[in-house]
Amino acid sequence: MSCFPSLFRKKVDSQTRSPSEVDEEISNIHNVNLFTYKTLKAATDDFCEANKIGEGGFGSVYKGRLKGGKIAAIKVLSADSKQGVKEFLTEIKVISEIEHENLVKLYGCCIDNNQRILVYNYLENNSLAQTLLGGNRSNIQFSWRTRYRICIGVGRGLAFLHEEVQPYIVHRDIKASNILLDRDLTPKISDFGLAKLIPDNDTHVSTRVAGTLGYLAPEYAVGGRLTRKADIYSFGVLLVEIVSGRCNTNTRLPAGEQFLLERTWELYERKELVGLVDTSLNGDFDAEEACKFLKIGLLCTQDNFKRRPSMSTVVKMLTGEVGVDENKITKPAFISDFMDLKVRGPPKSSEIKSTSDNANFSSDNRENSTLSSGASTFGTMTTSAAHDQSL
Ligand SMILES: Nc1ncnc2c1ncn2[C@@H]1O[C@H](COP(=O)(O)OP(=O)(O)O)[C@@H](O)[C@H]1O
Ligand SMILES: [Mg+2]
Repeated sequence: MSCFPSLFRKKVDSQTRSPSEVDEEISNIHNVNLFTYKTLKAATDDFCEANKIGEGGFGSVYKGRLKGGKIAAIKVLSADSKQGVKEFLTEIKVISEIEHENLVKLYGCCIDNNQRILVYNYLENNSLAQTLLGGNRSNIQFSWRTRYRICIGVGRGLAFLHEEVQPYIVHRDIKASNILLDRDLTPKISDFGLAKLIPDNDTHVSTRVAGTLGYLAPEYAVGGRLTRKADIYSFGVLLVEIVSGRCNTNTRLPAGEQFLLERTWELYERKELVGLVDTSLNGDFDAEEACKFLKIGLLCTQDNFKRRPSMSTVVKMLTGEVGVDENKITKPAFISDFMDLKVRGPPKSSEIKSTSDNANFSSDNRENSTLSSGASTFGTMTTSAAHDQSL
């Protein structure tokens, strides 16, 4: 392993980007370990199916044993991925520059001809999407204390990205499958491939609407307005998912209960929020605290994004350092209010690759579903996003 050698530049130059663009991006990247393809091939037994642990929008993820015995999650980006080089280099750059207890660690990367591979710290307990919300019930018991710790850990990781990293980072794809759990169930936010460093003096940056419908703030999804407040919206949805043990959308539930956030608001208005807490806790939880978390979820998803608290305030509310002012809670923004949504059933196996969030769910009543807006595919809609430095 070594830092980017000059030889490496030659290989990247042969990709779709112009030499000057590539040089510029690579010259900003320091201290990244480079793995050879041969090393990673050996680590994963030639990327064999048995070592495959997941499949996302950008490619397959394998478990591998590196020389010296370290276990890694090896993400092989699909060769036909149009954004491959860009996402790859962005992710390397961003992750290599930041470290936090609640963020996944990037060990290094590999570029070998067409192959682009990321090597991460392997997290033993998979993602929240699989273990807490997934159909295949895991052995993990998510007690109220565990959920409390997970919510606060994710909050701290995001607050770090938003308020401590300079320039700050908007993740853009906060969702249950991007929250990985280590042996002790400490949550780690993964996937900074979509994150973007926002230069302080940059007010308008052309970017792409990414993320997953259901977690997307309406002003971002519809207007392309990307600020930290869009992440805070997604965090609010995730918070409600963690407390309730339910996916943000479940078309198998009776009409009126399918959209978790709408249900949360309804129960809040009826003062019955406690009814939303995961029944698998068998009543063993701090009701006041759980309802407070749900209210914070409502605050984070407020329609007017200026009403959403900052992540550091959210963390303080979660820990009890700052109170939750119920007067500030108004009706949240429901994506269905803004879009002519078509709700599809579970994905066919051939669709799983492009709808990676659903790949982990089987068809029990926690099954997630894919939402699409008319004919457009949400994740690939191109738009010009306004970055508001004050938010
Ligand atoms: N570092 C990791 N440790 C353990 N499992 C991982 C790691 N990274 C990814 N995975 C698994 O691979 C799956 C696919 O990941 P990814 O390609 O990021 O797609 P997505 O985030 O859309 O699920 C994840 O849902 C998770 O189950
Ligand atoms: Mg992911």
